[in-house]
Amino acid sequence: MSDTHFGDRQVPLDAKQALVDDVFHKVARRYDLMNDLMSGGLHRAWKDDLVTAVNPPKGAAPFHLLDVAGGTGDVAFRVVDAGGPGTRVTIADINAEMLSIGRERATERGYDEAVSFVEGNAEALPCRERSFDAYSIAFGIRNVPRIERALAEAYRVLKIGGHFVCLEFSTVDVPGLDALYDLYSFNVIPTLGRIVAEDADAYRYLVESIRRFPRPKVFAAMIEAAGFRRVSFRPISGGIVALHSGWRL
Ligand SMILES: C[S@@+](CC[C@H](N)C(=O)[O-])C[C@H]1O[C@@H](n2cnc3c(N)ncnc32)[C@H](O)[C@@H]1O
Repeated sequence: MSDTHFGDRQVPLDAKQALVDDVFHKVARRYDLMNDLMSGGLHRAWKDDLVTAVNPPKGAAPFHLLDVAGGTGDVAFRVVDAGGPGTRVTIADINAEMLSIGRERATERGYDEAVSFVEGNAEALPCRERSFDAYSIAFGIRNVPRIERALAEAYRVLKIGGHFVCLEFSTVDVPGLDALYDLYSFNVIPTLGRIVAEDADAYRYLVESIRRFPRPKVFAAMIEAAGFRRVSFRPISGGIVALHSGWRL
């Protein structure tokens, strides 16, 4: 069996998902707070860019988004807020703990009608083929052991004309910013993880996994290889994150 990376560790491909699940199981309760602290609130602006790319219709036209690795519902709630009364979002996530926090929040915040939840693996989605208008994945695909399978599944579940949008940490190429970003990533983030989420290792995994993720051009080529067309990407915040887009035509 082949190996893959879990952060900086080499692990058997079949062992990675359980290790990832353990990370999100441990941090689920503090997940949204940690996002704000680690990114200085920037993740909100990045997610706004994702919502703009998803572009849910303002009118009553039906529009169904599948938000994979949707965790605690942050992206889904934003898309519903941006869209009209016909906008529906299904959140698919492999982690029951993250989903249960998402469900609680959806009820508290009045999203029960527009948002639904399904437990499932991005590599084998429990969804019919050609059933969604758009597919989004934010800070999720990096955690999936077989990225090619997740991309093939995205293609399968999208309708013809459907839009694939992915927000993910990327590669900082701006001189000066890269050194600062390294310093921040390898020192501040695990320290915050230790204090706030009481789990420095989980956040060390986060940083290492970011460094292992393919560079944006390579990832764009993988999206194309899955069958998507008009594939493009845009680095945001000096390349800390990138927004990739492709269409099932
Ligand atoms: C960093 S969180 C992102 C959550 C949310 N999209 C956001 O941006 O706030 C990563 C999520 O990916 C989920 N995940 C990891 N591996 C997965 C897989 N193979 N299939 C579906 N979800 C997965 C985790 O359970 C976790 O909820």
